[in-house]
Amino acid sequence: MKMIAASILSADCTKLGEEIKRVEEAGVDLIHIDVMDGHFVPNITMGPFVVESIRKITDLPLDVHLMIENPIFFVEDFIRAGADWISVHVEGEKHLERVLSKIRSKGKKAGVVYNPATSIEGFEFIEHVVDFVLIMTVNPGFGGQKMIEPVLKKVTMLKERYNLEEKGIPVEVDGGIKVENIKKVALAGADIFVSGSGIFKSNDYRTTVEKMRRIISEI
Ligand code: DX5
Ligand code: ZN
Repeated sequence: MKMIAASILSADCTKLGEEIKRVEEAGVDLIHIDVMDGHFVPNITMGPFVVESIRKITDLPLDVHLMIENPIFFVEDFIRAGADWISVHVEGEKHLERVLSKIRSKGKKAGVVYNPATSIEGFEFIEHVVDFVLIMTVNPGFGGQKMIEPVLKKVTMLKERYNLEEKGIPVEVDGGIKVENIKKVALAGADIFVSGSGIFKSNDYRTTVEKMRRIISEI
C-alpha cells in the first residue's frame, strides 16, 4: 500500500485548520508534522501543543517527524498530544533502541530516520523495534529544498539488504518530492511519499495529489 503524506511545514499557518481539511479532501493518507528544536536542525517549528490542536480537527494519522535532540524526553508528550507515528533520527539519539521501544510500548508506530549523508549500517540492531524507516532526501531543517537524488539509492539498498518488503516494514521518503520527480522516488522503492511544498505550493491540492497517486500506482 503506497501512501502520500502532506508536510504542513509548507502550509499557510494563519489558516492551518483549513489547509489540513483541504489536503484531507485532496486524498492524502497522513499528515506529516515536522518538529524542529533549533539544535538538531537550524530552525524551530512546532511542539506538542500544535499537534494537540491538529488532533482535534482530523482523523488522519499524524506522522510526527522529530528533528530534535534528546527525543526520549519528548515522545510521551507527543503521544499524549495525539501522534500516531513518531520518527526519531539515528543522529539525534544515543540510545536509539530505548526510544524506539518506548514509542512502541505506547502502541504507536516507531520510525527511524536517516539524514542524507548517514549510512544505514547497523539497521539490523534496531530492526526489531522499527515499524517504518524514513529516508531524508534533503538536509532537514526547511521545506522547499531541492531533492538530493543520489540518496534515492539508499532506499533501494535498504529494502534489498534487509528484505523490508517481505517483513512489511515500509520506507518513507522525505524532502523535495513533487509531481515532476515522484516517479524516481517510486522507482527507488518508496512506500510513503512526504510532500510539503510540492502540495501546498501547488494551485490545486486535489489535482496534485491525484497526479502523484497516478504516477505511483503505475510503477
Ligand atoms: C525537512 C522536513 C520535510 C519537509 C518537506 O526538514 O522534514 O518534511 O518539510 O518539504 P518539501 O516537500 O517542501 O521538501
Ligand atoms: Zn519531515
